[in-house]
Amino acid sequence: MSEAPIVVAITGASGAPYAVRLLESLVHARRPVQLIVSSHGLRLLDTELGIASVDALAKHVGKGWDRFVATFDDADRGAAPASGSALNAGMVICPCSMGTLSAIAHGSSRSLVERAADVMLKERRPLLLVPRETPLSAIHLENMLRVTRAGAVVMPAAPGFYHRPRSIDDLVNFVVARVLDHLGVEQELVSRWGGDTTR
Ligand SMILES: Cc1cc2nc3c(=O)[nH]c(=O)nc-3n(C[C@H](O)[C@H](O)[C@H](O)COP(=O)(O)O)c2cc1C
Repeated sequence: MSEAPIVVAITGASGAPYAVRLLESLVHARRPVQLIVSSHGLRLLDTELGIASVDALAKHVGKGWDRFVATFDDADRGAAPASGSALNAGMVICPCSMGTLSAIAHGSSRSLVERAADVMLKERRPLLLVPRETPLSAIHLENMLRVTRAGAVVMPAAPGFYHRPRSIDDLVNFVVARVLDHLGVEQELVSRWGGDTTR
């Protein structure tokens, strides 16, 4: 494992299937992952997919987990991702709750997820946030602008339909493919748009 790890956080917004597909894809690409799951992230994994623990998540992702995924407790603000001196290739929070987005926008760092994101911004490393909420309040929009100005990339979980998706899997893949593109990880989840061939 010579490559620097990618920090992945799962927080309590709807969209657990995105998180699972992202982990499967990173493990498949043999990229080391440092995983943090907030308590509401785990609640959403359970509600949406019946995954009630990090062990169950490991079983779900399957082959490659033991080799490529290291997990960290969200309450442990002294773990490796909490320090700028620990090298990594950036961080993605998928899905990202509006609560976590707000905490990042204001630099509160009251959990490992929040602190690791704060470190990404101060170290000028990639930070991708995949929020899901609707409708958006003025506070949500201001927080998104604030984190974007600080260097984060906000990628709402908003799948496109121009690929003519036929299943939920197709919609999930669309969002995760865009995340992987931004992380610079090879993906074959979605074929690339080459112009409208139906005309
Ligand atoms: C079933 C369920 C669905 C939720 N969906 C969303 C959502 O789509 N977006 C969001 O921002 N918060 C959502 N929330 C609220 C967050 O989970 C809540 O604000 C939580 O405190 C976020 O904490 P975290 O960011 O540490 O995970 C949901 C909560 C539950 C229980």
